[in-house]
Amino acid sequence: MASKKPIPLVVGNWKMNPSTLAEAKRLVVQLRTLARKFTPDVSVVVVPPSIYLSDLTRLSPSGRLQFGVQNVWPGSTGAQTGEISVSMASSCGATYVIIGHSERRASGETDEQIAAKYQSVAASKLTPILCVGEATRDPSGDYYAVVETQLTRALAGSKKAQLKRTVIAYEPVWAIGTGQTSTPADVEEMRLFIDKCLTKLFDRATARAVRVLYGGSVNQKNATELFIHGGVDGFLVGGASLRSAEFARIVASVSST
Ligand code: PGA
Repeated sequence: MASKKPIPLVVGNWKMNPSTLAEAKRLVVQLRTLARKFTPDVSVVVVPPSIYLSDLTRLSPSGRLQFGVQNVWPGSTGAQTGEISVSMASSCGATYVIIGHSERRASGETDEQIAAKYQSVAASKLTPILCVGEATRDPSGDYYAVVETQLTRALAGSKKAQLKRTVIAYEPVWAIGTGQTSTPADVEEMRLFIDKCLTKLFDRATARAVRVLYGGSVNQKNATELFIHGGVDGFLVGGASLRSAEFARIVASVSST
């Protein structure tokens, strides 16, 4: 029997934006109105700077907009200046956690730290969004090995049930914030490759349950093509998620309505 296609997921990673809580609130109020049109056809997740989280979740009590955090530290409490834990994020209304974003990898986050973060989120009720992606595309296809290594190091040893709830975000680093995007054909090829890696690490049924997103300069112009021909379950959106009308158009592009 063919497995049911998961509900598409669009995640807005606000990174270190906007610059004030007042602006963040304005953006959520705009998105909340726009999201009414699309949910429950699409899951829409906003990932603001975590200092804004509690104020913003209060603005969307219906759960039409869900919220996430951009990073966590493994462990529940302790002497970790500047860090937040999974339970802290959860108690402030987060339901998703981005792990291993390339901007954090670039500032020194290691595969071991990413694996520990993945384990702590996967063991909680929050949904991990594990980011993978190559820095450059070489003609010999070495980028496949890069993605396989990132997946293997983060996920090896996880339980199948945890993996099934995991979201993988394929984000080629060269496409993030640059205006350059993967072609839909390249995205589809990578999606199939990720399925293959997960099947090797776990099994086919487990691999098929995992949602795979594409991220990297997704915008209102390229989203429909990338969704239809890229074979992904949605998007991780950076810059365009800060423009409510554009973000709503991206959400519309994965909606069946
Ligand atoms: P971008 O960022 O959409 O601005 O390229 C994507 C991301 O970093 O998640």
